[in-house]
Amino acid sequence: MQGYFITGTDTGVGKTVVTAGIVANLKQRGINVGIMKPVQTGSTTTRQGLVSPDALFALTVAGIMDEMELVSPYRLKPPLAPRIAAELTGTAIDLAKINRAYRELCRRHDFMLVEGAGGIMVPITGRFLMADLIKAFNLPALIVARPGLGTVNHTLLTVEYAKSRGIHVAGIIINGLNEKEAGTAEKTNPGLIAELSGVPVIGIIPYDAGIDTDTGKPGRIVQLVETGIKWEMISLPNRRGGGR
Ligand SMILES: Nc1ncnc2c1ncn2[C@@H]1O[C@H](COP(=O)(O)OP(=O)(O)O)[C@@H](O)[C@H]1O
Ligand SMILES: [Mg+2]
Repeated sequence: MQGYFITGTDTGVGKTVVTAGIVANLKQRGINVGIMKPVQTGSTTTRQGLVSPDALFALTVAGIMDEMELVSPYRLKPPLAPRIAAELTGTAIDLAKINRAYRELCRRHDFMLVEGAGGIMVPITGRFLMADLIKAFNLPALIVARPGLGTVNHTLLTVEYAKSRGIHVAGIIINGLNEKEAGTAEKTNPGLIAELSGVPVIGIIPYDAGIDTDTGKPGRIVQLVETGIKWEMISLPNRRGGGR
C-alpha cells in the first residue's frame, strides 16, 4: 500500500494538522486518499457516541466519507497514552481488529495516511509500541516536529529509534513556524536536523492562529500545507486520467 505513517516528536506537535492538510491537498489533486487514526485517546462524546477528534478533523477538512468505526477502531476517553487509557477503561486492544480496519481502508483507497498517537515509542498495549504498529502497516514514516529550541534533540532521537527498528523515515515536517518571531534556533534547526539525521526536511508549515484541531477549525491549513510541503519529495500513486 502506498502512503505514510505520520508520527511526531511528541503529542501536540501538529500530526493531525499535517495529516489533514496533506490529505486535503491530495484529494484536490484527484487522488483517492484515506486516513486512519488506529487508536485515539482523549475521544469526545457526541450524539454519535465516542468520536475521534483527530479523525473527524482530517475527514472533514479533506471531505472523506469512511465510517468512524473503521477510521478509528479504538476511541478511548482518557487523554493518556493508549495502553493506560485502555487499561483504565477495561478495553482490550486487539491488534487484529486494527489490522482488519486498515486492510478495508486500503481496499477502498489508493493512498493512506495513518496518524499515530503521541510519539514513536508510546505503548499501545503491553510492550507493543507505536513503532511496532508502523512496522505492522509496513509504511514509511513522516516525522512532525516543532520549530524551536529542543526540537533537534527530539527529532534526532525519533529518527535514530525509527532506523534502529528498521522503519524507513521518508521525511521530516516542521510545523508551526512563526516567521516573525523566528530566532536563531528556528532558522538553523531545519538544516541541522537534515544534516545530522540524513533525512530530508520535506516541509515547513507556518503558524496560523486560526487552526484548532480540538474545536475543528482548519484555518488556512490547506493552503499553508500546499505551499509548505515539497510535493516532489512525496511519492504519490500514479494518477488515473491525468490531473495535476
Ligand atoms: N501550524 C499551526 N499553526 C497554529 N497552531 C497549530 C499549528 N499546528 C498545530 N497547532 C495547534 O496545536 C494543536 C495541536 O495540534 P495537533 O495537530 O492536534 O497535534 P498532534 O496531532 O500532534 O497531537 C492544534 O489544535 C492547534 O491549536
Ligand atoms: Mg493528533
